[in-house]
Amino acid sequence: MKKILFVTSEAHPLIKTGGLADVSGSLPKALAGLGQDVRLIIPNYNAINLPGEPRFLCSLRVDNRDVNLLETQIPDSQVNVLLVDYPHFFNRPGNPYVDEQGNSWADNADRFALFCRIAVEVAMNRAQLNWQPDIVHCNDWQSGLVPALLTLETGRPDTVFTIHNLAYQGLFLVDNILGLNLPGQLWHPAGLEFYHMLSFIKGGLVYADRITTVSPTYALEIQTAAYGYGLEGLLIHRKEDLSGILNGIDLETWNPATDPFIAKQYDVAILPDKLHNKTELQRKTGLPINESIQLFGLIGRLVEQKGIDLIIDCLPALLAMPVQFVVLGAGDKGFEERLHNLAHVYPDKMAFAKGYDEPLAHLIEAGADVFLMPSRFEPCGLNQMYSQLYGTLPIVRYTGGLADTVVDALPNTIADRTATGFVFNDASASSLLEAIKRAVLLYSDKSAWKKVQANGMKKDFSWKHSAEQYLDLYQSLWHVFPIVGGEIAYTEH
Ligand code: ADP
Ligand code: GLC
Repeated sequence: MKKILFVTSEAHPLIKTGGLADVSGSLPKALAGLGQDVRLIIPNYNAINLPGEPRFLCSLRVDNRDVNLLETQIPDSQVNVLLVDYPHFFNRPGNPYVDEQGNSWADNADRFALFCRIAVEVAMNRAQLNWQPDIVHCNDWQSGLVPALLTLETGRPDTVFTIHNLAYQGLFLVDNILGLNLPGQLWHPAGLEFYHMLSFIKGGLVYADRITTVSPTYALEIQTAAYGYGLEGLLIHRKEDLSGILNGIDLETWNPATDPFIAKQYDVAILPDKLHNKTELQRKTGLPINESIQLFGLIGRLVEQKGIDLIIDCLPALLAMPVQFVVLGAGDKGFEERLHNLAHVYPDKMAFAKGYDEPLAHLIEAGADVFLMPSRFEPCGLNQMYSQLYGTLPIVRYTGGLADTVVDALPNTIADRTATGFVFNDASASSLLEAIKRAVLLYSDKSAWKKVQANGMKKDFSWKHSAEQYLDLYQSLWHVFPIVGGEIAYTEH
């Protein structure tokens, strides 16, 4: 059994802004299910949703700050959660990273550096927990300093760093980081420095014993200039330690047969019941109620990554077809405004729900016929997997985890029952529109459509296989201790 400290800045259902929360809420549960001793560590945000009063564990003094460590649990699980309680940094309105206007908190470097320092204290068994992990598994830039700081410790645990999205790197100007008191030996271009800025993510990419990302295709893509953001050289350098492990999904949360948020539960044997969700979605979003019109859905952060501009560019052509379109999301103000205006121009065809709404997200997955996900890049992507399980055919671009999880509906894949959606290549509105047209055409062939729905609904997207891959990775780790008396001492965990 491995003792694993899982370091993350969000975890469903405690706090969520995107897919990182889905993964951090479900992978630790899956690892616990495989008999591992997993604890999560996360900041105690104002907006966190706790299952009852947390337990006080201890107080730690780090960088002249007194920080409390509290304990709670992931609801309905055996996974303990350590809450880093420092109200001055974390007890604020807004989300974990931005204020209510959507601007990054000016002191994010301090906030997440403190979080990392506390994680290091726990990792080194200096938090009065009488528990030292074998593995510290860090996720995204907010936890990036942990592997770096741990390399300065003797008797440290092994470290794994997972890239959920290389586009977010935690880059800070030198002026913003003087107060961090980072050890000088980490500050150089082959360390935490990135073009004279501090890069949190480099702490993971340079110093972690192993690097993973959330799909095999993205693991290759980030080793190229098109997807590497200037870090491709470093990632190529570390390619022996880099692998892609596809995310799984939490079937307790995303399952049309048991989903409490949808109007009528269904599965592949009672597929017509899915239609109740369509009419409920139309009612809720003010669209004309019509069971037979093809309904397109989209849920997501409205940012360039997600190809929202491609969708906006082909919306007039899309809405000229016999379809409806429901969008749920928030993000870039320009995208929000354009979607809002388009929904005004086409009130009978398009609805835009601005904001973050979990129940509506479930209803869209259940009620739509097609899910649009034309991402420019997508490390893994979860909605295309949810969509397949909900019998909602995804339209995706051939990139990252989308390429690894959706099989294009072509005559041969429809015949051999592997087709699960529609895949296109170029990040252009015209390529997306071609895929949309194929989806419209296939929808007119009810029997072919049903077959493709069934293929997706029967797929195994559970965590089991991926959690086993993480476990294999943990077990493969060797810890190399510093040179002692001229010899290198190895121990195997
Ligand atoms: P990313 O992490 O890049 O945002 P993913 O596809 O991995 O993309 O995961 C996004 C997760 O966040 C999904 O669970 C999705 O349903 C959810 N989500 C995104 N935007 C919203 C929203 N506006 N309301 C509710 N859920 C949302
Ligand atoms: C990131 C990625 C997304 C991935 C998620 C969880 O936010 O953008 O593709 O599914 O992390 O790993």
